[in-house]
Amino acid sequence: MPKRRGAYQPPYSKHSFLVHGKFLTSKWDFEHHVVPPISSSSTYRLESAQRGASGFCGYVDPEARARRRGEIFIYDRLDEPTRAMLEERLAFVEEGERCVTFATGMAAIAAALGVVLRAGDEVVAHHALYGCTYSLLTNWMPRMGVRARYADLTDPRRLERSIGRRTRAVLYETPVNPTLEVIDIAAVSGICRRRGVISIVDNTFATPFCQRPLALGADMVVHSLTKNICGFGTDMGGVVVGPRRLEPGGHPAGVRKRPPAVPEGLRRGALAQERLADPRLRAAVPGA
Ligand SMILES: Cc1ncc(COP(=O)(O)O)c(C=O)c1O
Repeated sequence: MPKRRGAYQPPYSKHSFLVHGKFLTSKWDFEHHVVPPISSSSTYRLESAQRGASGFCGYVDPEARARRRGEIFIYDRLDEPTRAMLEERLAFVEEGERCVTFATGMAAIAAALGVVLRAGDEVVAHHALYGCTYSLLTNWMPRMGVRARYADLTDPRRLERSIGRRTRAVLYETPVNPTLEVIDIAAVSGICRRRGVISIVDNTFATPFCQRPLALGADMVVHSLTKNICGFGTDMGGVVVGPRRLEPGGHPAGVRKRPPAVPEGLRRGALAQERLADPRLRAAVPGA
């Protein structure tokens, strides 16, 4: 698989990375913690004015930020240590360049659409969707001047016919909630690329352990972290993973939040998914 530019490539497997992580980052030192602490500070002390100056430069200069040089934590809404670690891990497992976590999956989906769409644009979605995503597209997006069209994306020819002059994004889940239909990510992504449309895949059901949409050509991946990826029923969360080119300028909105238990759930999730991927267990557990 080609190495994605900017994506962190640790020298060990995805599961090891999620379980043990990369505790020493350029921004914070978790090296001495077996389980990283959950940060609860709203602001952060900087050891010198120089450190602050170089860190602030990173906020205004995307080049410096891309090189991850001199990054600092200054204010919880912008970034904080536990969330930074969670985002780094999720970007790695989804093989994406940038990752932003949110309070819920719906906040993440709304943010992904908000980054891509403008008033007057259209979004094409698979005709079966998680109910609240359907509601977002039919009840909320029209208030922002965005119209949704629905098509059966299990047949890529129907997508081809549904993309119009104003179509800016295609959104679908695979497997679909609740029908469990499977959509061909590579085929849909190919059409979207050719037609200049951004494809967004909700990977909640499959998780990156089973399917990595970015590697199959999708532009963005969204998740409800509340479900399979860290499915112990202990927390809510959402995430958007995508390329640096789609990252909006300016500071992330207030809904951005680190789901407290998710980093720990991810560790256990990695192990649970590994077990589920074991064919002997799949054979033993009906429906697994
Ligand atoms: C496929 C899918 N996407 C998104 C969501 C929304 O996620 P959340 O409940 O974390 O907002 C759900 C919730 O069940 C879901 O099943």
